[in-house]
Order: sequence, then C-alpha cells, then structure tokens
Amino acid sequence: MGDDKNTVNGSRRSFVKVVAAITAAMAALLTPIISGLFVILQPLRKKDETSKAVRIAFLETLPADGTPVKFSVLANKTDAWNKFPESPVGAVYLRKTSEKTVEAFNVACPHAGCFVSFVAEKQGYFCPCHNSTFALDGKVDNPQSPSPRGLDSLTVEIRKGREIWIQFQQFQPGVSEKIPVS
Ligand code: FES
Repeated sequence: MGDDKNTVNGSRRSFVKVVAAITAAMAALLTPIISGLFVILQPLRKKDETSKAVRIAFLETLPADGTPVKFSVLANKTDAWNKFPESPVGAVYLRKTSEKTVEAFNVACPHAGCFVSFVAEKQGYFCPCHNSTFALDGKVDNPQSPSPRGLDSLTVEIRKGREIWIQFQQFQPGVSEKIPVS
C-alpha cells in the first residue's frame, strides 16, 4: 500500500516536472518569435510624417499684389515599412495678404477632392469636376456650387523672416465640417 502511494506521488512529481519543462521550452521558443513580430509590425504604429510642417516657399516668391500661386507639397512619406523621401503629397495655393502674412489653401476641392484652379479673370478658384466656385478668400461664392464648404485653409508660419511653412493636412470631402484626415 505504502509503495503504491510512493509510486503515485513519484508519478505526479514527474508529471509536474514534464509540464514545467514543456512550459519553459515554449516560453523560450515563443519569446523571440513574439519579439520578432513586434519589430516587424512596429512601423505600422508610426505616425505618417506628411501631416507635419513643411517648408513650401519664400516670401519673395509670392506676388505682392496677392495673386495666388500654386505649389506642390513634398514631404517625407512613410508607410508601414518604407520611407519615401521628398514625395508629392498634395498641393497648396499661397497668396500674400500683407507684406509679411500669407494665406494657404489646400487645392483639393472639399466636394470630392479634385484640384481647383485659380482663375485670374474671375479673381477666384474654380473646380473643373462639378463647377464649384470659390472667392479669393476661399468661401463658396455661388449657391449652385456642390461643395459643402469653402476651401480648406491651412496654418501658415513664417520662419526666419522669409520661409513659408505650412501644416499640410487633408480634410474629409463631402461634408460641411472641416474634419482632418490623419
Ligand atoms: S470635386 Fe469639386 S465640385 Fe466636385
């Protein structure tokens, strides 16, 4: 009877040892795999660099009379695994509102995202896709325009007395509110 009890206890101890050994082996095996997965997936969590401030032009490149000028926006673009230096991410219209102040609009039409053009004869912006028109200050100037809001203004910063930097941002098309798209 005593021998049976010892045999049962011995078997239990062996079983516990085997389970502990298997658990330790699994932990040793899985830890580097999980770490590796974390390293591979980690770039997915990085913020896209394109929403940060970008230098667009110098003050002296804009006409003093306030005529808008279109500029491409180049920025370092990052996707899940790659970084693309100086890739086009959009375009803006800049115009001087005084000697040292600048107004910036995203060229993407708030209706469906087509690029608007400045029309000098009308002193305003025109979208060729569905004929939305905008005044020089970006407001919708024709009630027939399908655009639900005016052009999207962007934050401008003048650095070192002449560099024009903007916070480039896309906004959700087709809605009256200006909702940033990250
Ligand atoms: S996209 Fe501009 S009016 Fe439709």
